[in-house]
Amino acid sequence: MSAQTKRAPGAFPEGFLWGAATSAYQVEGSPLADGAGPSNWHRFTHRPGTILNGDTGDVACDHYRRYPEDIGSMTALGLGAYRFSISWSRVMPEGRGRVNEHGLAFYARLVDALLAAGIEPVVTLFHWDLPAALEDLGGWLNRDCAAWFADYTRVVVQALGDRVTTWATLNEPWVVVDAGYLHGIHPPGHRSRAETALAAHHLMRAHGASVQAFRAHGRGRIGLVVNLEPKYPASDDPADVAATERADAYFNRQFLDAALLGRYPESLARLFEGDWPAHPAEDMALIAQPIDWVGINYYTRGVMRHDDREPLTRASKAPVAGATYTETGWEIYPDGLRDMLVRVTRDYGRIPLYVTENGAALDDPLPGPDGIAGIVDDPVRVAYLRDHLRACREAIAEGVDLRGYFVWSLIDNFEWQNGYSKRFGLLQLDRATQRRTLKRSALFYRDVIRAHGASLGDEVARA
Ligand code: FCB
Repeated sequence: MSAQTKRAPGAFPEGFLWGAATSAYQVEGSPLADGAGPSNWHRFTHRPGTILNGDTGDVACDHYRRYPEDIGSMTALGLGAYRFSISWSRVMPEGRGRVNEHGLAFYARLVDALLAAGIEPVVTLFHWDLPAALEDLGGWLNRDCAAWFADYTRVVVQALGDRVTTWATLNEPWVVVDAGYLHGIHPPGHRSRAETALAAHHLMRAHGASVQAFRAHGRGRIGLVVNLEPKYPASDDPADVAATERADAYFNRQFLDAALLGRYPESLARLFEGDWPAHPAEDMALIAQPIDWVGINYYTRGVMRHDDREPLTRASKAPVAGATYTETGWEIYPDGLRDMLVRVTRDYGRIPLYVTENGAALDDPLPGPDGIAGIVDDPVRVAYLRDHLRACREAIAEGVDLRGYFVWSLIDNFEWQNGYSKRFGLLQLDRATQRRTLKRSALFYRDVIRAHGASLGDEVARA
């Protein structure tokens, strides 16, 4: 490398992927088109009282039909990668058995169009939308789900594996179990400690079985995407310190310890008491299949205090004086991203990492008629992205093998139980017209990508 091209320590390595992310149910719309079967999310959103304002993913961003336009936006921003997920019930309407070729064809068109635009597809196999027919069989409570997921993996990998090289099995198993089985705010809407433990273990068995199927039928690299949140005690009161440890084991260590170390944190058995299931050695071996990378979704930290009202962990977040919060009530804390990347590398070894989601829901203004071609001004998101990218750079300087970064999200979309009320996009969505408008953060990100991160400035954003 010549003196001119030599990068500063911590600079983004060559080949670092700059991307944006979405997921199928949140952006596609047309949930039953072309022979697709209903998903658990389709059914849940149509049940009155489940989603803010009665919103559903029926139309969402109409990405199912407008993906060429969205790829045009990605090209304008210079994205090197697009992380999206596949809707299992488009591909297998009953979740198992029969394959719907029209569903597969949609993803083949999407992948081909991305590749033609020079954008790397990064495919998540499960981002929360489970075929309703499988939910009827018990969903993640049914031990057979590992075999169903492996079968679905095989079908998708056989169809797209010649063109897609980067794959993820699950997105955020913690949210699936915590929101779906403990707090009842995602499908199936249950509140059960025993089910929470069982569904978590079955999700991880499904992850392992999917990795096995991938190795048998695919090439390329497969990983697991988890959401991580560093937990700090709100005080040095031993009750808060203990609450912090419980929250950390449940939130951060449960899935990574299982996948990368082949065991669960010991403290979880105490947390779940009699509801902690047996975990036969062959299950743990299945779960701990070697993987090629780990994806980290990072949004915030948790400053934790003891709270008896909270089921299971008896830990809840304490407000932080002077902190800035986004519209989802998440504290903006960029240092936590660096801390997490460094911690994962320290605790699990120097496995390749990606920040597979990072972003902020903000109350964006409408595009001003006087703005630059109607650009949405979102200075807080610009600062959010800048500071989190600096945190990535610091982690790289500390030896983390970080390979890429994906903004959540490419476009404002259906934000689960919050419906369309929370806007995370680089592109603003006008739901009435489906018009997309660039936000200033999109232009900021475009410039970061052009400069391969060298435009982020030298100062380090520390609290
Ligand atoms: C993550 C999800 C993603 C989106 C963001 C805001 O937990 O993976 O689908 O909802 O949060």
